[in-house]
Amino acid sequence: MGNCLDSPARVDAQASSASAVSKSSSKASRSSALSSLAISPSYNDSSLPTPRSEGEILSSPNLKSFSFNELKSATRNFRPDSLVGEGGFGYVFKGWINENTLTASKPGTGMVIAVKKLKQESFQGHKEWLTELHYLGLLHHPNLVKLIGYCLEGENRLLVYEFMAKGSLENHLFRRGPQPLSWTTRVKIAVGAARGLCFLHDAKSQVIYRDFKASNILLDADFNPKLSDFGLAKAGPTGDNTHVSTRVMGTRGYAAPEYIATGRLTAKSDVYSFGVVLLELLSGRPAVDKTKVGTEHNLVDWAIPYLGDRRKLFRIMDTKLEGQYSQKGAYTAASLALQCLNTEAKMRPRMCEVLTTLEQLEATKNLTRLSLMEKNGRTQTSAVNFHSPNLKSCSPALPSARQGTRTH
Ligand SMILES: Nc1ncnc2c1ncn2[C@@H]1O[C@H](COP(=O)(O)OP(=O)(O)OP(=O)(O)O)[C@@H](O)[C@H]1O
Ligand SMILES: [Mg+2]
Repeated sequence: MGNCLDSPARVDAQASSASAVSKSSSKASRSSALSSLAISPSYNDSSLPTPRSEGEILSSPNLKSFSFNELKSATRNFRPDSLVGEGGFGYVFKGWINENTLTASKPGTGMVIAVKKLKQESFQGHKEWLTELHYLGLLHHPNLVKLIGYCLEGENRLLVYEFMAKGSLENHLFRRGPQPLSWTTRVKIAVGAARGLCFLHDAKSQVIYRDFKASNILLDADFNPKLSDFGLAKAGPTGDNTHVSTRVMGTRGYAAPEYIATGRLTAKSDVYSFGVVLLELLSGRPAVDKTKVGTEHNLVDWAIPYLGDRRKLFRIMDTKLEGQYSQKGAYTAASLALQCLNTEAKMRPRMCEVLTTLEQLEATKNLTRLSLMEKNGRTQTSAVNFHSPNLKSCSPALPSARQGTRTH
């Protein structure tokens, strides 16, 4: 697991003015949210009854209410060596509980958990903490992280999750250290993440995730991906409405252009963000690269011209993949990313269509160059070898610091 990470700057802007960016006060947002918080517009099916009051959310039968002392023992007093990560919301610690009683157990025994502790000065605050509880208390899917419970005691707000042994996709793609993810694993991650989003979008009461990015895709011991961080999630439009009007929230580099410009949120905003992550998987480069200037600073701007061109695509492919992919497989994924990144939201595919394409890619026998080599008796590789000597020149100097900067 990664160490303590750089914290992203979080800023707010009004939906009507994407350019007017101002910081929100964590204190103000927390106190106003505490008095009466009802989550979002109406849901009309039994799985997502709303609006739910804070009391209803906190008394969800699926969530355990932990005392602060219990979580203190479970994490060995929030010891620095239990720290596994840091985000805008706060610090994440590793801990242990008894899987039957859910009480703190001896470190190293029972069930491993991740405990997220809200920073007192967090800009995200109570409202997002509660939104996370609301959604993850109700929605269950193999590609959504499991929320076990929470702690609300005085100023302390914590969330308790299943522990995801391989940490975030961001750590694996952009940090020095871990073994590079293979092409097969990257496709598996794309498929699982698409399945998670598809589940949210196709729910009877649609949920728009709004914060799809590599750091929010967590990986279990077998690299199965699960979406985490539902603090920004929103109920999708209902009735004749085509969109939900919101303050622009999300992360720079991942948020859809029309959403940033107008604050009009649709499920297609998530599809755009999915396209950005797909591009990160293909290129091994972060959505925003602070170490680069000009076109290369923004991954989408840099990569778009190559995505639809079979002959040029190799220029943006991650050299760490060492040509494991077949040309056809890489082109399929790149074309899909291009569709997801269409500036015209309506032209983007729906998540279930994205999922179908990725499942087909995963099922393809010649997913990797290796499997083709095996088929051909490991003799001929030239027909599928995507790489050229020029690749060296476009090898990215990958930064170790996190790149995500939240807009809003
Ligand atoms: N359930 C979990 N199991 C294991 N590690 C986790 C878990 N949740 C979070 N982490 C680790 O903690 C890090 C920080 O997570 P967090 O969600 O707080 O912030 P972030 O997603 O990196 O940033 P942001 O605040 O912008 O969403 C993750 O990148 C991951 O490495
Ligand atoms: Mg996160």
